[in-house]
Amino acid sequence: MIIKSNLLKDISPTDLDLIKKIDNDHFPFPWKETNWHNSAENSNYLCFYDPKCRGFAIYLLSPLEKLAHLLKVVTSPESRGMGIAASILNASYSHFRMLGVERCMLEVEVSNTSAIGLYLKQGYNKIHLQKKFYSNGADAHIMEKHL
Ligand SMILES: CC(C)(COP(=O)(O)OP(=O)(O)OC[C@H]1O[C@@H](n2cnc3c(N)ncnc32)[C@H](O)[C@@H]1OP(=O)(O)O)[C@@H](O)C(=O)NCCC(=O)NCCS
Repeated sequence: MIIKSNLLKDISPTDLDLIKKIDNDHFPFPWKETNWHNSAENSNYLCFYDPKCRGFAIYLLSPLEKLAHLLKVVTSPESRGMGIAASILNASYSHFRMLGVERCMLEVEVSNTSAIGLYLKQGYNKIHLQKKFYSNGADAHIMEKHL
């Protein structure tokens, strides 16, 4: 599966509209237009997505810390269980290794079993339980993967 990678600011308007639609329709905490706007002005936001825009992942890079923070990964419901999220994340690790990134981290709601299953299979480890991390009061696992 070919996965595209681009700085958020360099994604074509057509692709970005599809990505925003998946985010709005299927991500538990979709970004508002101001989030997209602000992130597009920062060249440390990187997006990986499949050319048919069935899914995407966005990371914020911290080059000084050699860290990539996974902010969101989502696939459209009709495309789940087909390995698309795994392909997107695998493509990101290859890219990050070339950039000298040494680890990835993320937060995930403790009840999100599909995402936790994905991250464990990807080699992430739970390193901390952050109480009341989300605006709805839910706890989050902080997870980390060394590249
Ligand atoms: C989590 C999510 C991105 C997984 O996407 P996907 O494309 O279906 O995942 P894949 O098909 O690549 O699955 C890869 C692995 O993840 C795990 N996984 C995926 N769905 C799972 C589920 N429902 N339950 C348990 N593990 C699951 C499995 O280990 C799977 O490997 P396997 O198929 O060999 O068993 C998708 O369910 C989603 O978009 N959820 C809503 C958005 C979200 O919650 N994102 C994470 C927020 S932190």
